[in-house]
Amino acid sequence: MKKLTIALLAVPLVAFSGAALAGDAAAGKAKAESCMDCHAGEDFEGMTLEEIIEANKAVLSGAQRHPPGLEMAEDDVADISAYFYAEAGGE
Ligand code: HEC
Repeated sequence: MKKLTIALLAVPLVAFSGAALAGDAAAGKAKAESCMDCHAGEDFEGMTLEEIIEANKAVLSGAQRHPPGLEMAEDDVADISAYFYAEAGGE
């Protein structure tokens, strides 16, 4: 019974992280083309995927300083972040 409870509790967590983090790095590559004029994967080295997502949200919202030329739709954050993460040596 204890195992079952743990399994049931784990389900929403997996579902949540899947929805929030499941970016498509291959799709992100095309969307991040404009970013790569200035950025390289190593800009995001050592960051977790979550941190890259947060950083991208921060520049998008203006909370983090960014030079002009940021071509990113809010819907693209997950894919672009997944691509940066992969380029930086993450999975
Ligand atoms: C014109 C060059 C240029 C382009 C194009 C560009 N960036 Fe940047 N980006 C910068 C510079 C320079 C900084 C550092 C800003 C600062 O700290 O003042 C930066 C910072 C960032 C940061 C913050 C990094 C951190 O460690 O917090 C993120 C995230 C980011 N850029 C994402 C993007 C994404 C995503 C794109 C494409 C949609 C993009 N950038 C396109 C030049 C660029």
